Amino acid sequence: MQPRVIAVGVGPGDPELLTLKGARLIREADVVVTPVSDPKKSSIAQSIVKQLLDPVRQQLVTHVFPMKKDQSGLEEDWAASAREVAEYVLQGKTVAFITIGDPFLYSTFLYMYHQLQKLHPEIPVEIVSGVSSINTAAALAGLPLGLSDERLAILPATYEEGDLARTLEEFDTIVLMKVHRVFGRIRLLLEKLGLKDKAVYVRRVGLPGEAVFHDLDLVTEDDLNYLSMIIVKK
Ligand SMILES: C[S@@+](CC[C@H](N)C(=O)[O-])C[C@H]1O[C@@H](n2cnc3c(N)ncnc32)[C@H](O)[C@@H]1O
Repeated sequence: MQPRVIAVGVGPGDPELLTLKGARLIREADVVVTPVSDPKKSSIAQSIVKQLLDPVRQQLVTHVFPMKKDQSGLEEDWAASAREVAEYVLQGKTVAFITIGDPFLYSTFLYMYHQLQKLHPEIPVEIVSGVSSINTAAALAGLPLGLSDERLAILPATYEEGDLARTLEEFDTIVLMKVHRVFGRIRLLLEKLGLKDKAVYVRRVGLPGEAVFHDLDLVTEDDLNYLSMIIVKK
């Protein structure tokens, strides 16, 4: 294989939702990099692909990117990750950087990618699309994301209330990612806009603890999880 960086989206959780191409490239890679937010916790992305990994032949590396609301302080972590990844490629190795869902949708990979492009524009990067958590959550909830001329919006639920309200009013289907920390505020807003009964909360798609709530009032504090979203379908 030509030495390069390959960003592989491993899907939302079910190993069967990993693409054939992603699986082949992970198997063939010399180095597999997994981003983690906490070095003490095991990586979900790595657990999805564990059957494909060969710890004897492959170098399995984790890069730590702490999860913070303000990501600006993490520049040095992304740059360090980009420098390490570049070094492997310059040694003639192929690096698979695995990421949950799709690598080009709100993914940690993108921060490292921007640094890599800045520091080593000569290094080839291939993006292997993954099934996004949005697609699988919509399928589980039974809510088609868009039909004909409908408008679809995807945004972090952490947006300020005015912006969220405008988006909720203007679009036909709205996907609110990263909802766990602001769930109570979003539920109130949906109620105010008369949209609560059009909203579904989906958590941990394809993973232990997977659940779909068609009634947001039944969601308790214990049901909230980082891997969750609300889909509103008018
Ligand atoms: C950093 S983004 C990663 C998105 C990912 N690149 C994708 O394509 O699905 C993290 C957010 O994605 C959503 N997410 C990712 N995996 C999920 C899963 N298995 N179940 C439900 N939501 C998930 C949640 O909204 C979570 O807060």
